[in-house]
Amino acid sequence: MQVLFKVVRQYPNQQPRLQTYTLEVEPSSTILECLNQIKWEQDGTLAFRKNCRNTICGSCSMRINGRAALACKETIKQELSRQIPSTFLSGKLTDGEELNPILEINVAPMGNMPVIKDLIVDMQSFWQNLDTVDPYVSTAGRQVPEREFLQSPEDRAKLDQMGNCILCGACYSDCNALEVNPGFVGPHALAKAQRMLADTRDQATETRLSQYGQGTEGVWGCTRCYNCNAVCPMDVAPLDQISQIKSGVLQRQDAQASRSVRHRKVLVNLVQQGGWIDERKFGFKVVGNNFKDVQGVLGLIPLGLRMLQRGKFPSTFEASAGVSEVRSLINSVKMRESQSTETMSDPAPQNPVAPESDAPESNALVEGPDPSFGWNTYAERINGRFAMLGFIALLVLELVTHQDFFTWIGLR
Ligand code: SF4
Ligand code: SF4
Ligand code: FES
Repeated sequence: MQVLFKVVRQYPNQQPRLQTYTLEVEPSSTILECLNQIKWEQDGTLAFRKNCRNTICGSCSMRINGRAALACKETIKQELSRQIPSTFLSGKLTDGEELNPILEINVAPMGNMPVIKDLIVDMQSFWQNLDTVDPYVSTAGRQVPEREFLQSPEDRAKLDQMGNCILCGACYSDCNALEVNPGFVGPHALAKAQRMLADTRDQATETRLSQYGQGTEGVWGCTRCYNCNAVCPMDVAPLDQISQIKSGVLQRQDAQASRSVRHRKVLVNLVQQGGWIDERKFGFKVVGNNFKDVQGVLGLIPLGLRMLQRGKFPSTFEASAGVSEVRSLINSVKMRESQSTETMSDPAPQNPVAPESDAPESNALVEGPDPSFGWNTYAERINGRFAMLGFIALLVLELVTHQDFFTWIGLR
């Protein structure tokens, strides 16, 4: 069969251009075999990486029809059946019309990394980021043993999924978080981080969790877009590994540790209380840290004003339907998470973080509506109402003077 290969050709600091090659191929041919055919028979200047041809070395990652994949794993048949799933194998369209005999496959270099030439990217940041998670089993604090460290087959099996990573870069290429946050270490590094955390021989669990939970470089930088799970050719499921690390961090850190931790805890607690998020509280609790962070509260004012102006600031809150089922689900997930974090190599800390005072953290099922949908402490109630009055006063002033908040305080 004939297939059109549209390959992105590129050099550094030059506009990419698309080059088209027509190939006579077998449906069972891999994309890598087709690229070899182009290189050997049509255009020796086409550059791409390859090595094992057998889904082992991870060299041949590239974007095939828009997603990162291994060229030696994907076949023509698989690619075309993605485009026209029910018709390709029969060779006919459903109404009996013949298929267009020329089908297209687009090939481009991986994303999130600069191109060296054609389909070859510079993976320096990928390797550097891997290094930042300290991807080696720690033996610090141990005496050098007389014989090797032993590990039970069950404990070894816990490493299988993460250990399958061949460092191909597909997840890194298609990671949405990396596109906007170059400081994020990437899904490959965090999958490796979880491989270390799950290793019974590693003794650096607390240090690792503290490091991986800092800022937006570690687990909190992930936007949970699921791309890494979708493209990983080895079923490492980096997003699942990131979630495991997050559970470990959340178990050890309280809401004051960072805004990211607070965001997650407040979100879960508000949903647990009311079945969905009480928007009146969310910003104040997360960004304003329950009015402890004055700068954070002030930063919310412009947004609050705009919401009030457009009638989008909710004045009341009603619990969602089925709130007891929501609580039951959250409690079940928390129970499973606490069980899975117990499998991390180090035992849980002696003094685990106390539950947030403003929300039920118990794993026991909470039935019925929660009576505390308002601000939970006296101080919060006073502060909340004070802030609401402030917003309304500012809105009135804006409407009367036709000037906004920033103009009054001389920032505009
Ligand atoms: S996690 Fe999967 S996609 Fe990412 S580098 Fe490893 S094998 Fe490749
Ligand atoms: S789920 Fe997270 S780590 Fe995975 S690709 Fe999306 S943003 Fe990146
Ligand atoms: S050539 Fe080794 S994984 Fe494709």
